[in-house]
Amino acid sequence: MIIRIKRQADSSSESYCQEFVYDGEKHVTVVNVIEWLNIRLSSAGLAEIAYDNSCQHGLCGACAMVVCSRPVLACRTFIDELGTDTVEIRPLGKFPVISDLLVDRSELHEAMKRAELWTEKTTGTSVSATCNNSALCLMCGLCLEACPNYAPGDIFKGMPEAMASLNLIPKTCRGEHRDAMEKNYRKQVFAGCTKSMACEKVCPMNLPLVTMMSDANRLSVWKIWKLIGGDRL
Ligand code: FES
Repeated sequence: MIIRIKRQADSSSESYCQEFVYDGEKHVTVVNVIEWLNIRLSSAGLAEIAYDNSCQHGLCGACAMVVCSRPVLACRTFIDELGTDTVEIRPLGKFPVISDLLVDRSELHEAMKRAELWTEKTTGTSVSATCNNSALCLMCGLCLEACPNYAPGDIFKGMPEAMASLNLIPKTCRGEHRDAMEKNYRKQVFAGCTKSMACEKVCPMNLPLVTMMSDANRLSVWKIWKLIGGDRL
């Protein structure tokens, strides 16, 4: 099997493709393959492939990358299920590359700050399951890779911001801060989304993003105070 990886020494270097022959186990994940290659690169005194991974169980979102043109979590993508003898791996294309497959997604966290997504005074009431499920978003960025509306550096931050808004807005007491959160949602999410919903097809948590986004819109755009049977929140 051929593994073709887009590499880049650092953010200011030219990118290039490097091919490797992989003859290890077949039912392994892309993360396993990268580690296999890194052991060999390291023992040959060559630069290892930079990439991010943490949980290796599809729970943290660190290993988001593009494999065979599809935005995926590398730790949950098995190479024998890709249906090809040439596996192409590249970094997420909408975030600045730090090195090889490692990208800088800090702008997602900056967007959450800009949207004032935190609670100052909580309502103390329970919210709907949809709101709570929004906390399952990994903020991995795969949805933005698939999104036709998102370009690098856009103020629009799509589903990561929509999910954080859906989680936090109903938990926040009405007042100036909640008004600001709702206004930011309208400006940074609602105004930028053209509802292609390509995000739902690649979400590694299989979140029902179409339904969840309509709930988020209902909260911040349509001003219906009852969200799925709750009292005015
Ligand atoms: S390493 Fe955590 S999701 Fe892949």
